[in-house]
Amino acid sequence: METKKIGVFDSGIGGVTVLKEIVKFLPYEDYIYFSDSIHNPYGEKDDNTIIKICDNITQTLINQNCKCIVIACNTASAKAAKYLRNKYSNIPIIAIEPAYKMVYDYAYNKPTLVMATKGTIESEKFHMLYKKYDNHKTYLLPCVGLADIIEDGNFEKIRKYLEENISKYKGKVENVVLGCTHYPLITKEIKDILGDVQFFHGATNLAKHLKDVLEEKNLLENNRGNIQFIDSQKSKQKQERFFNILSQ
Ligand code: DGL
Repeated sequence: METKKIGVFDSGIGGVTVLKEIVKFLPYEDYIYFSDSIHNPYGEKDDNTIIKICDNITQTLINQNCKCIVIACNTASAKAAKYLRNKYSNIPIIAIEPAYKMVYDYAYNKPTLVMATKGTIESEKFHMLYKKYDNHKTYLLPCVGLADIIEDGNFEKIRKYLEENISKYKGKVENVVLGCTHYPLITKEIKDILGDVQFFHGATNLAKHLKDVLEEKNLLENNRGNIQFIDSQKSKQKQERFFNILSQ
């Protein structure tokens, strides 16, 4: 019998930053990672479009024997998690969100910059999180186009983008919430501009939570830790980058 897998998806390869954490907690699971290059980026798409895209990906992953789904994209989580949980109520759907509660728990008094896509920052889901944990010293920065250039891996463009868009926060913030799963790939470049800030990213907490859920539902497996990569554009280059980052 074919073993059951954990399905993970993002608009591209950014969700690898989430998968990396998951694998630390669950090394004996098999995974399918779905990178949706065709529809990348998600950041400025409307809610219904994102819901439809995520519904198709979820269906594809379930058809390929996935026992649970991890939405490794903050934008997709903000817009489609509720819909997917309603429609696929028989399997766990675990969704990443900007780690703003972590700031509340561990660094409440410090000025904070939340970086995320426009879609995430403007979403109802994020708005509720922000209202609940507001430390009244927070700047919200919709980083239009940033995930896109990270996806392309063009570091010259990334440095220029950050120079133009985050330099004004230098000396003003001590916490940075990485509210898009692509951003942990550029922490060095962010530090080069903002100095020694503390980063907050939801991946570790998500991984712990996923393990708890699978344990509770008796869904843990003892497999080989196989990771299968699917890209909706069949991009070999993305596949190479994905496995490179995963092995670092
Ligand atoms: N990794 C996605 C996120 O966490 C990127 C969004 C995009 O494709 O614009 O929001």
